[in-house]
Amino acid sequence: MTHPPLQFGPWALITGANSGIGAAFADELAARGYNIVLVGRQKTAIAQAARDLIQKHAIQTQEVIVDLSAPDFLRQISDQTSDLDIGLLVSNAGGDAMGALLRIELPKLKQMLRLNTATHLELTHHFGQLFEKRGGGGILLVSSTAGLQGTPFLGNYAGSKAYLINLGMALNYEMRGTGVNVTVLAPGPTKTPGLTDKPAIPLASLPAPQMKPGKVAQIGLKALAENRPFVIAGVMNQLLYFCGNLLGKTTGRNMWGLLLKGIIPKELNIR
Ligand SMILES: NC(=O)c1ccc[n+]([C@@H]2O[C@H](COP(=O)([O-])OP(=O)(O)OC[C@H]3O[C@@H](n4cnc5c(N)ncnc54)[C@H](OP(=O)(O)O)[C@@H]3O)[C@@H](O)[C@H]2O)c1
Repeated sequence: MTHPPLQFGPWALITGANSGIGAAFADELAARGYNIVLVGRQKTAIAQAARDLIQKHAIQTQEVIVDLSAPDFLRQISDQTSDLDIGLLVSNAGGDAMGALLRIELPKLKQMLRLNTATHLELTHHFGQLFEKRGGGGILLVSSTAGLQGTPFLGNYAGSKAYLINLGMALNYEMRGTGVNVTVLAPGPTKTPGLTDKPAIPLASLPAPQMKPGKVAQIGLKALAENRPFVIAGVMNQLLYFCGNLLGKTTGRNMWGLLLKGIIPKELNIR
């Protein structure tokens, strides 16, 4: 199979590559000819995802089984990929702990905060330096539209996703002229196991359209190719953001608060 030259190749590393948006990135990139490093916790699921990519796209893969919230995760990734010419990082894996802040155990909140912030920071720092040295590369950080306002019952998640938006946008500016592209992608509701498979709050029941993960990945990759600092996935999510800006941050927060209050289980609310 012949492909056009790869902008960030030959290898792309994707965290959370066996499910949802991460799996969609893996499929999109493999279809373009990238070899893929699949990073995730579940050996069997990662191995199956790798086999599917090889069969469908005739590319090479490498599997790194690691808990990204563990303190030494970066050393494990670095040790197992040091012989590969990685030119693209898709820092995608994230988690949530849903409910009113005081109803969630503090260790769970802290673990999620680490996975959604410091993990992305460490990966970005490590691969950013490598890409700077090799004279080019791409960094795609997966945030969320939840990070665009204080989203009640998802406060810690929203805060962590806001961190990613500001981190990536600042880095995009700093890396100008280095050949390293940096983009933050903010998906809204997307039909993935993370959204649909029994989360603590049934977010999939909200009256909001759910995008397909493949479409979300395509939008992120297009924005990265153009070195856009920030992109919101989909016209509907962009429209909601625009309206939220017109109405003001507090009104946007109140709107989400009302929506989520309607579906949150009693035991996860304050009263
Ligand atoms: N779906 C949405 O509506 C939506 C909307 C906005 C933003 N996002 C963001 O998009 C990203 C992907 O979400 P998704 O919906 O595609 O999620 P998903 O289907 O639940 O997949 C998440 C992936 O991340 C991996 N992961 C989670 N915690 C990990 C850890 N500690 N160490 C290693 N891997 C870990 C999971 O591996 P395991 O199988 O081991 O758990 C899985 O492969 C997340 O950052 C999420 O916040 C999603």
